[in-house]
Formats: sequence, structure tokens, C-alpha cells
Amino acid sequence: MTPPTHFAVTYAINPWMHPGVPVDTDRALAQWNTLRDIYLSLGHAVLTVDPQPGLPDMVYAANGGLVTENTVVAAQFTHPQRAAEGPAYADWFTGQGYRDVGHTTLPNEGEGDLLVVGDRILAGTGFRTHRDTHAEIAHLTGMEVITLELVDPVFYHLDTALGVLDDDTIAYHPAAFSPASQDALAALFPDAVLVGAEDAAVLGLNFVSDGLHVVMTDAAPDLALSLAAAGFRPITVDLSELLKGGGGVKCCTLELRHAPPVTDRSDH
Ligand code: ARG
Repeated sequence: MTPPTHFAVTYAINPWMHPGVPVDTDRALAQWNTLRDIYLSLGHAVLTVDPQPGLPDMVYAANGGLVTENTVVAAQFTHPQRAAEGPAYADWFTGQGYRDVGHTTLPNEGEGDLLVVGDRILAGTGFRTHRDTHAEIAHLTGMEVITLELVDPVFYHLDTALGVLDDDTIAYHPAAFSPASQDALAALFPDAVLVGAEDAAVLGLNFVSDGLHVVMTDAAPDLALSLAAAGFRPITVDLSELLKGGGGVKCCTLELRHAPPVTDRSDH
């Protein structure tokens, strides 16, 4: 996670962002700290990335890359305003001891568009991640990659329209996808939780699940009820300040599915 120390809305690269609307950075930091404390209370380790001045969207750490059980793929951003975040996150991975950080030749916005479900990757395209990177990502990770086409600019990243609940279960907002991708999702996940416009419009689907606890916005109570009815335990958090940049819980969280190899620190 990257603290929103330099968070601001100074440009608009998605329909949520309105540079005229004031942003309370202290409030964003307090909300972010609450989210971090929730992860810690659930027993998850949280590593912190140094935020950099001039990169206000760096708080959305999910976009910094993709870490599968055995590979790391660095992000490459579509918009020039975020371009420097790609190398910043790649350097962070290297600094942590991750080796062989893979790159794509065209833009991919990390876990914003690349969501791991069991042994597959669901890969969004349409607004940010280039479709042609999907084959490269399959090659780099050795995983099956399923292309999903996003059609509504409000849901510009896959993680705004689809959330992963466990290795076989997802929730999604069908209208965010092309008809062909809706068919593909229905065939792959017949038991998915389908989410309507109201819950999707507050980024209700931008959640992080450990397979039981679902950390999600407090602005989608109906979705929280549906998830509870499906056997999950929703834990809600107010991230309203960070929503002004078009991001929520998942956007602020890059999941590290493997630790870096341990370096030999022995003196012998
Ligand atoms: N302002 C950021 C952008 O438009 C928000 C990114 C949100 N992150 C996410 N994983 N959906 O790029």
C-alpha cells in the first residue's frame, strides 16, 4: 500500500476525477490508515511503498503491477500523468528483492485490469490495459488469461466492475462488459454474485477478499448483505476521499502472492 501523502485531483483521466473539487489530503490519509488497520487486524502483513511528490495517483497501488504465485509483472501506464509510477513500482519490487520483474511492450495497469481467480487471470481491456498485452501476460505468468472487454468509461479498470471473492467465486456488474464478455463470464462463473448499477456506482465491487472477509466500501449496504448471504463476512470502510480519484479499497491494495526470495544474510 502507498499512503496518499501527495494525493490530489489535479488532472482528469477517468470520469470520477474533477480537478475543481477540493480534496482533503489529511482525511484521505486517515481513511487509508483505517483500511491498513483493517488488514493488520485480519492478520495480513502490509508493506508500505514510499509515495512520490508529483504522483498523486500513486495511492492506487493495485495499478503498480501484478504479483502471481511465482512472477512479478511491472505496470506500464496508459496516461502520461501516471507514466513515472511504472518505474517507481518496478524499483520498489527490485528493492524488496523480487527478481526477474517482467515487462509488457504495451500498457498494462497491473491489478487494476489483471485479477487472479484461482489459476486463471481475468484481464480487462477497453480503456487502459492494451489487449495485446494479455498474451504477453499469459506467457510471463504461465497462467490462462481470459480477455474481458470493458465498455463503460465509469468502469475503466476491471477492478471497478468485478471483484474476486475466492478461487472460484466472483461478483460483477454485467453492464460494464461487452455482450461477448458478459456471455464469457456467465459461462465461466454461473454462480457469480451479480451486482446492480447502484452498488457498482459507488465502487462496491472494488473490494479485497481473503476468501472469507471482504473489505469493501461502506457505501454499498445492499452488496454487503448479498455477500453475507453468500457466506462471506463484509468489513466496511469509508474511502470517500479516495473515491474522488476514481478508486476504492482494491485500488489502494496490491496483493503480494509470493514473498521475494530470501537473500542470504549470513556472514559466513
Ligand atoms: N485516478 C486513477 C486513474 O484513473 C485511479 C486508479 C484506480 N485504481 C484502480 N485499481 N482501479 O488511473
